[in-house]
Amino acid sequence: MTLLPYAAVVLTLLAGLSLVIFTALTGVPTLSSRGVEAADVIALLKHAKLARSAVIIDLGSGWGALVVALARAFPEATIEGIEISLLPYLISRLRASGLPNVRLRWGNFHRSHLRGAHAIVCYLMPSVMPGVGDLLDRHLKWGTAVVSNTFLFRGRKASAVRRGSRRGLVSLYFWPARYWVVDEYE
Ligand SMILES: C[S@@+](CC[C@H](N)C(=O)[O-])C[C@H]1O[C@@H](n2cnc3c(N)ncnc32)[C@H](O)[C@@H]1O
Repeated sequence: MTLLPYAAVVLTLLAGLSLVIFTALTGVPTLSSRGVEAADVIALLKHAKLARSAVIIDLGSGWGALVVALARAFPEATIEGIEISLLPYLISRLRASGLPNVRLRWGNFHRSHLRGAHAIVCYLMPSVMPGVGDLLDRHLKWGTAVVSNTFLFRGRKASAVRRGSRRGLVSLYFWPARYWVVDEYE
């Protein structure tokens, strides 16, 4: 009797468990940007007029859908992805293996250096956006382009938006993009 089917079941269960654990730890499931959303991210980055050799970082690069789309759209740029969840990270490495301008790191983007970034992209969840905003405040140079898929940064003013997807807007900020609401005169 072969052990292969049992090994396959155990591996599948471990893979599923690892996805559940990382989603619970980060509060962000590993969903991929859809084609239309990736197209909106690309259009907004083009609107931001990045240098050809720009460094674009995807915070939470998941299965690699967005980094692969960006690498094809900006062949002279360097696309970096940081992903904490092991299985999506490994799959993204396979997907991006033929793309020389992609660099993928396994780890927590809150512990990464982002100072070299000319642009940041992300597709996360509303609950983590304030913490990500604080992270970008600490690391980014003034005026760095930030594009968020679906979820907005509160208290920040988007310079442009695209509405290709029914799931929500894709928005472009030039960091820190702060605005204040003044309710009354003191
Ligand atoms: C919704 S997916 C988006 C994947 C990809 N950016 C895309 O648009 O196709 C978000 C990913 O962020 C990852 N993530 C969440 N918090 C993270 C953190 N602190 N460090 C690294 N990755 C993180 C999750 O594991 C998940 O895979």
